[in-house]
Amino acid sequence: GQPPAAIQSHSGQLSPFEWYAEMREKTPVCFDDQRETWDVFRFEDVNRVLRDHDAFTANRAFKDDTSSNDEDTGSILQTMITTDPPEHTRLRGFVDERFQPGTIREYQPRVENVTKRLLDDLEGNEAFDFVDEFAIPLPVIVIAELLGIPAERRDQFKAWSDALVARPEETTQAELQRIQQERQRAQQEMGRYFATLLAERQGSDGDDLITLIANAEDLSRGEKVGFCILLLLAGNITTTNLLTNAIWTLEEQEMTNAVRTGDVDREQTVEEVLRYRSPIQSLKRIAIKDVELNGRSIQTGDVVTLWLGAANRDPAIFDSPETFRSERKPNRHIAFGTGVHFCLGAHLARMEADVALKQLLARFDRLDADLSDLEPLNSLYGLESLPCEVHRNTLSG
Ligand code: HEM
Repeated sequence: GQPPAAIQSHSGQLSPFEWYAEMREKTPVCFDDQRETWDVFRFEDVNRVLRDHDAFTANRAFKDDTSSNDEDTGSILQTMITTDPPEHTRLRGFVDERFQPGTIREYQPRVENVTKRLLDDLEGNEAFDFVDEFAIPLPVIVIAELLGIPAERRDQFKAWSDALVARPEETTQAELQRIQQERQRAQQEMGRYFATLLAERQGSDGDDLITLIANAEDLSRGEKVGFCILLLLAGNITTTNLLTNAIWTLEEQEMTNAVRTGDVDREQTVEEVLRYRSPIQSLKRIAIKDVELNGRSIQTGDVVTLWLGAANRDPAIFDSPETFRSERKPNRHIAFGTGVHFCLGAHLARMEADVALKQLLARFDRLDADLSDLEPLNSLYGLESLPCEVHRNTLSG
């Protein structure tokens, strides 16, 4: 859908925070006639809606998506992210264990290897685009490895996942149609490819996620394909933007060196970036009961937009919320959502960001991001590009 009128401009997209503050204060729950949705800004209200899955369903979050429920190609409609308990519990149960902290720690050496190889490829460059050369490929390669996608298919995967999340450049009918067709084609091709891999691996005993899903009993063919596509998509541009927003924010706050030397804690810095520049600024739910929210009456069928980015700067929860403070503890941000749909990949994303920052700062003793001409993404909260000038630390290995 369209962003709210107040934050459609470039500067509004880069900094919706003043608008959030005003809305949080004056009209914390209000209806936008143009977008036909409620907007919810306070932490307490956002938190409540996300946790109250009896009153607010995740089910029609993709209601504009016209893609088919085809048995072979699967569909995002059938995955855990758009189902409610008890169906959600059943679906999430198939993979939950693989994303727990202990399992994620075991993956860490593999993520370290992927990161090292990406940085080796940049060897000799004095400048590069951080987004294209690092923040986009890292999560794609990591999730492709976890899924068990052969390395030679990775470029194809990148193309498919880009097409699936592409947004129209302009709002003409022709452009919307083109994007829609590209999306459907990518989903079908990817679905067919996953269906083939799933069939090949059924009965085998590899430790990759595709084999795990292939061998799951009680999952339909469509559900299995949907699972693979969801895992591939959910973690990519989100993590890309966490990495980008981290380098952007460290440069802006002049904290890059402090993190490199360890004077500022790396893990806490990542948490504060998640709060301060949340890659996902809003989520949607639909009311399945008439409910009252902060004094407003929400009717069955109403769409509700939950502003995570506004909740994460709510002064009722965070001291000096507009200030970036890496020492903030506890940091109760909800950048990964909350309740039953709390991000499955949160531990993975945190680990990737930690490994990435550690290696980047060790490899380069100078990492200057150019913030003079920031261009916002129009899908998630992040940047189209982030040119960096670097100097190789000759002491590091
Ligand atoms: C769910 C954010 C990385 C997989 C979510 C939700 C948020 C989120 C806000 C809740 C959606 C909702 O309630 O409707 C993020 C951010 C990430 C990130 C900010 C990176 C910084 C990842 C990664 C994966 C992943 C790396 C890898 C597999 C998922 C899945 C769900 C989810 C499968 C659905 C969980 C469910 O419905 O139970 N994520 N995510 N995410 N995320 Fe992430």
